Amino acid sequence: MLHWDHIFATRSSRMRASEIRELLKLLDRPDIISFAGGIPDPELFPDAEFKAAYAEIFGGPAVSAALQYSVSEGYRPLREWLAKQMAALGIPATVDNIFITSGSQQALDYLGKLFLSPKDTALVTWPTYLGALQAFNAYEPNYDQLNPGGNRTPEAYRQQAAEAGGRVKFAYLSADFANPTGETVDRAGRERVLDLAEELDVAVIEDAAYQSLRYDGEAIPPILALEIARKGDINSARTIYCGSFSKTLAPGLRVGWVCASEAVIRKLVLMKQAADLHSSTINQMAICTVAERGFDEQVAKIHRVYKHRRSAMLAALGKYMPAGVTWTKPEGGMFVWVTLPKGTDGAELLAKSIQTAKVAFVPGRAFFADGSGENTLRLSFSCANDKMIEEGIRRLGDLIRGEVAEAA
Ligand SMILES: Cc1ncc(COP(=O)(O)O)c(C=O)c1O
Repeated sequence: MLHWDHIFATRSSRMRASEIRELLKLLDRPDIISFAGGIPDPELFPDAEFKAAYAEIFGGPAVSAALQYSVSEGYRPLREWLAKQMAALGIPATVDNIFITSGSQQALDYLGKLFLSPKDTALVTWPTYLGALQAFNAYEPNYDQLNPGGNRTPEAYRQQAAEAGGRVKFAYLSADFANPTGETVDRAGRERVLDLAEELDVAVIEDAAYQSLRYDGEAIPPILALEIARKGDINSARTIYCGSFSKTLAPGLRVGWVCASEAVIRKLVLMKQAADLHSSTINQMAICTVAERGFDEQVAKIHRVYKHRRSAMLAALGKYMPAGVTWTKPEGGMFVWVTLPKGTDGAELLAKSIQTAKVAFVPGRAFFADGSGENTLRLSFSCANDKMIEEGIRRLGDLIRGEVAEAA
């Protein structure tokens, strides 16, 4: 057997199989009620609309362009549509501020590549999106804790980054219905992140993957909009907004976007030329057609279903969880974040749950850059119907009650 480890680059040493990806395999087992995968419900995909869009492309003159190489910036009509969407969010942007990626995951990889030299520091929330940690890990950074509720002093961040051998480069966060917590950062928290970024002179990466999925409460302006309100112009902004069609239209087409200052977009375009030339032309065209014709209706349809499921899950948690267990009350997104009594281990609980309760979820530790959070877990309600929620949360509640009683 050939030993590869000494041949692989050092950056590969932090690449490990994702707990979530492994768990997704469980979705196929019919005896398991799964709250594990944070994926959209396929029943809600606008498949008829996509079928019509692709048929039109193949039946018309656009087919040659659709099957041909294209520009790295992305399909221009889609960028024009997105510029209007961004304007509606308080972000005046031109097509030159929009760059199409193969899912927003690719944007996270590119931004890691663009900003992080080995030993530089990325500020992330504890917990944060696991896929962001995976994307950034390849660039060998250190992590420090971003806390929109009240950060340490800029000097403290600077010093810790210097001790780690580099400097702070960006703050990454999901301000709306974060994966994994489902929580939203309030306006004051967003302003605090901007203040910190100004003082540290670093970028802000705003992951807006779930932003369109608000079911109740007042929308809060994106961080990029708040920064433009301060500075008057997107090209003076340090915030880099990453959007995605995965949660609204369909993830399988792999279309996301970045909205940012032209200086950042130009660099990202060069990276794309080197990495994959451009995102799938035909998929961008289809997304553009479907979005132009009925994005708002599609989002409204998703809201109705997910809002109901969110509320059903919160009600079931209230009914079945024993004392000492707490959870977030998300106003949108796909996730509820559960905190178990100290001393309970989410990963051990999952192993038992698969055996006995036959309920799957994601143990929280993987979402913490410092490896803490063992007494937490993530539940996704996006693919669960009423019966699964009632039955699954009841079984999970019983299991946790037994564990807590045993530990006491
Ligand atoms: C917070 C967050 N950001 C980004 C992504 C990546 O999504 P995509 O690459 O499909 O746009 C996800 C996917 O689950 C996510 O939860």
